[in-house]
Amino acid sequence: MIDFKALAKEYGTPLYVYDFDYMSVQYTKLKEAFGGRKSIVAYAVKANSNLSVIKHFAKMGSGADCVSIGEVRRAFIAGIPAYKIIFSGVGKSDEEIREAIEKDILYINVESDAELQRVEAIARDLDTKARISIRVNPNIDPQTHPYISTGLHDNKFGVDLSTAKRMYIQANNSENLDPVGIHFHIGSQLTQLQPIREAAEIVADLIRSLEALKIELKFFDVGGGLGIKYDDEVTIEPYDYAQAILGTLTGLDLTILCEPGRFLTANAGYFVTKVLYEKQNGEKKFVVVDGAMNDLLRPSLYGAYHEIEALSNSQEELREVDIVGPVCESGDFFAKNYALPPLKGGELLVIKSAGAYGFGMGSNYNTRGRSAEVAVENSQARLIRRRENFEDLIALETEFLED
Ligand code: LLP
Repeated sequence: MIDFKALAKEYGTPLYVYDFDYMSVQYTKLKEAFGGRKSIVAYAVKANSNLSVIKHFAKMGSGADCVSIGEVRRAFIAGIPAYKIIFSGVGKSDEEIREAIEKDILYINVESDAELQRVEAIARDLDTKARISIRVNPNIDPQTHPYISTGLHDNKFGVDLSTAKRMYIQANNSENLDPVGIHFHIGSQLTQLQPIREAAEIVADLIRSLEALKIELKFFDVGGGLGIKYDDEVTIEPYDYAQAILGTLTGLDLTILCEPGRFLTANAGYFVTKVLYEKQNGEKKFVVVDGAMNDLLRPSLYGAYHEIEALSNSQEELREVDIVGPVCESGDFFAKNYALPPLKGGELLVIKSAGAYGFGMGSNYNTRGRSAEVAVENSQARLIRRRENFEDLIALETEFLED
């Protein structure tokens, strides 16, 4: 049990708290699900890019799935070996591609024909061979929130099957490209196995048709996306997930790579915020807290549900309230019509499942410093990022500061 009151007292609020032991349990579950098969769990750094979090996974043997050179650098600093780092994203700059090749990471995940030409040109310039995989868009509806669906032709990600095949043939004939992998990622917060199985089947068939052309890949990268319980979702068991994927690979000897983010960190994280006031506009009741959409954007951006627990001994009847932050936007809420007991200023709310896409999607909107982050491991708490102060927020506005 994490003592949120003690942590809030020591580190202040709003505050992110991460249960590192829970992250270990999740990592192990997934790794074991692939059993004896060659596999790499490459943590999707975007879910929570705190260096201590990445280091925690590095120590367990994890790789890293990165979507900017900044994330690649984080992975290196945190101790992930180059041969377990991959770099994806639809819009990599020349500088990013160059640095990724120079750092000799496992592969660059190429997302368009135009990008393949850039990677080839940069590798030629560096007089080397760049390892690549190609992100295939299998045109499968993942049945998740439209903002986090990625595997349909309507989405900007990856290339269609026939383009992918053409790109593999080109890469295979190139002196400067080494096609080693194939990748798909159909969406996030997936709770249905069937779309994943269908996508894997389509991609496995493409691998077979490439083998017929003597193009032999080593890595089958199934992306991330495993859903978690925010509310009462029925989620996919890692074992079933692994079996569904392995079942499509009969006769193929490939290392499986998966890129979980949310599965590893979401339910390890808590956002602790303090009640400032209660107020009432007509019939509508609000609880105003010190955290806001700049700290945890998911409810505002996706209408996402997060369970909220009031740390209050109140025996009074629950009422429906909107839980809102101080930011000047009507969209600044954590929950609407949520049942909570009457609360006094200073009492705490714990917003759950906040360990993925929480802190990382934060901002300084309204000149609000980002929260501190604390890790709890073996019942010990430690600060892994201090709270941002006003000086941090203005430090880069150099013209004014130099006047
Ligand atoms: N691999 C690729 C290529 C991805 O695009 C993503 C997530 C992942 C792996 C990790 O997905 P996960 O295992 O975490 O589902 N901000 C949104 C989620 C955006 C996900 C973007 N891509 C949210 O708060 O729900």
